[in-house]
Amino acid sequence: MHWYSNPAIVVAVFGILVAVIIFGSPRSPRVIEPVNPDDPDKLPDGIKRTVLVAGGGLAGLSTALELAERGYDVTIREASDVIGGRLFAKPVEVLNRTFYLEHGFHGWFYNYYQFKDIRKRLDIDHNFKPWGPVHMIFRDHKPEILYSEGPYPLNLLAIVYRSLNINFWQALTTVLAIPDLFWFNYDEVYERHDNISLAEWAQIYHVNTNFYDIIMQPSLSVTMNERETLSAAEMLMYMQIYFLNNPKADYREVTTVDHFTGILEPWVKKLKSFGVIIELNSTVEGFVFDNKTGNIISADDKNYDYFVLATDFGGVRDIMKSSANRYVNNALVHNNIQRFMGGIDGLAIAPPYKVIRIWFDKQIPNAPDILQCPEHYPINLIAQYHLLERESAIWANKTGGSIMEFHLYTWKYGPVSDSEVWGIISPTAMEIFPEIIEKNFKILAVNVFSYENFPSFQAGSNRHRPMSHFAKSCGISNLMLAGDWLRTSYPSALMERAVSTGREAANHILLSDHVKQVPLLVASSLGPGILSAWW
Ligand SMILES: Cc1cc2nc3c(=O)[nH]c(=O)nc-3n(C[C@H](O)[C@H](O)[C@H](O)COP(=O)(O)OP(=O)(O)OC[C@H]3O[C@@H](n4cnc5c(N)ncnc54)[C@H](O)[C@@H]3O)c2cc1C
Ligand SMILES: *[C@@H]1O[C@H](CO)[C@@H](O)[C@H](O)[C@H]1NC(C)=O
Ligand SMILES: *[C@@H]1O[C@H](CO)[C@@H](O)[C@H](O)[C@H]1NC(C)=O
Ligand SMILES: *[C@@H]1O[C@H](CO)[C@@H](O)[C@H](O)[C@H]1NC(C)=O
Ligand SMILES: *[C@@H]1O[C@H](CO)[C@@H](O)[C@H](O)[C@H]1NC(C)=O
Ligand SMILES: *[C@@H]1O[C@H](CO)[C@@H](O)[C@H](O)[C@H]1NC(C)=O
Repeated sequence: MHWYSNPAIVVAVFGILVAVIIFGSPRSPRVIEPVNPDDPDKLPDGIKRTVLVAGGGLAGLSTALELAERGYDVTIREASDVIGGRLFAKPVEVLNRTFYLEHGFHGWFYNYYQFKDIRKRLDIDHNFKPWGPVHMIFRDHKPEILYSEGPYPLNLLAIVYRSLNINFWQALTTVLAIPDLFWFNYDEVYERHDNISLAEWAQIYHVNTNFYDIIMQPSLSVTMNERETLSAAEMLMYMQIYFLNNPKADYREVTTVDHFTGILEPWVKKLKSFGVIIELNSTVEGFVFDNKTGNIISADDKNYDYFVLATDFGGVRDIMKSSANRYVNNALVHNNIQRFMGGIDGLAIAPPYKVIRIWFDKQIPNAPDILQCPEHYPINLIAQYHLLERESAIWANKTGGSIMEFHLYTWKYGPVSDSEVWGIISPTAMEIFPEIIEKNFKILAVNVFSYENFPSFQAGSNRHRPMSHFAKSCGISNLMLAGDWLRTSYPSALMERAVSTGREAANHILLSDHVKQVPLLVASSLGPGILSAWW
């Protein structure tokens, strides 16, 4: 029976539609204008300002781009041997060929306004393609193919209509029971929901299990956090920017070539054209402070006017800790660093995770390019690179083989050698793709990357989460922060939070030098609402 053959449902749907059309609306992004619009666009000729950016991930690259374009002398120091941080793609010899292997598969979303702006400036839009319907499999539910189409709120109704697991009443009662979905308010949601975990929240609000499993669980896994600890507020914010606040919110893209060729190489070229110095294998160890002003003078014996900490959270903690040790006898500097460390004390790093890529001699016919499998621990996601990126496709066409990447988040098997990883995950992989065993797939090559570098967003952490100008309030006024672990005054996450906070860091510096700031385009702080006038 179809839902439209039930008169009660038809009336309800019609009523909600009318209400939404009158009182609800998708939310457009908002511009954060420069606070100094009358200042010049660039540093005046003859004025030299030097900036050290610690960390060559997206946050650091974003800061560097804005400042270099405006006449700053920027140096980026990156600890690892490749640029890009968690977006890196590094050359690895596999099967007598060089493949650029990603840190892990990534998707770009509609609400990524800063990133889209950077893509345009680097002229790399042609390296992206839409990631069509999202394929998901579950243990306790039928498979889903999610996509959003049409104007708000028909797009959402259609998702529910197409869903094999969620029915209309479940969706409606869930939405009514959780006002923070449609009536989301970014400025208030953390006050009410940051001190409870997603798991506790789902219980308190009696969130429908189907709705939770199908709609919320897949986004949970991309945070690398666990439901027992992840802040409910953070999750509600995710729901807005990746799903709800706009009918296109779940529109996503992937790259057609590897992340280095498609994004980082053009970015580095652009930076170098402005004279940016990029030092790889160059770990920033600590800062030297001015005993009278409390500001930073140098990093590892090199002086700069400004310092941007764009390392991951662990890097920030290490650098500030080792700096602190040098100043136990200097009250001003010591207190400043103590204030800084005290401020970030409640933050942590998410559990370790692995990304394994396997070259097989055969292909799985009709496999989706990306498969999300949030209930098949230890596997969260499988990406078929030969269906995604050019180099991999060429190899696969020539050999008939396939290249699969498995994301293994919150790794709970302890430290194991790379050669043991496939053994641990293969029963699950074969359950998902029985062809691997039925057709006797041969493994031609394996690459394992293991990491522990993702910020934790555990319940209660938001009040400890600093903003990009935090160091100033600790008395260190020439130090800015950038990175996806920071707090922003607008909804943002992951790569978009990294590049947005990178731009914020640049803006604080521009303001000090009376150079016009760069505008930001950010997602609305409000949900789309339904009947909002009556609520
Ligand atoms: C497997 C995986 C999949 C993901 N998928 C998505 C996705 O689909 N969509 C999305 O939006 N986001 C995704 N993300 C998240 C995204 O990659 C990050 O949010 C983003 O890249 C973070 O950028 P960042 O610059 O803040 O930090 P990072 O990229 O971590 O950069 C920090 C850099 O600082 C360097 N560093 C550390 N210490 C020092 C030091 N002392 N001196 C010098 N350098 C130092 C590090 O080596 C690193 O290069 C994913 C992440 C992973 C791991
Ligand atoms: C970084 O270090 C690695 C390993 O020691 C080395 O192979 C590589 O050439 C170095 N790269 C740069 C740019 O210095
Ligand atoms: C790689 O090249 C070497 C030498 O040319 C050859 O012996 C080997 O079989 C090749 N390996 C593969 C996997 O093609
Ligand atoms: C969370 O914060 C709210 C509002 O400040 C408070 O009422 C509630 O008791 C807190 N809950 C927990 C578990 O700390
Ligand atoms: C600042 O104080 C530290 C620790 O007390 C001391 O080692 C250092 O020489 C001082 N630096 C200057 C420039 O006075
Ligand atoms: C690989 O083969 C498919 C199907 O024959 C074709 O559509 C695609 O363009 C080929 N890709 C490359 C990179 O050669």
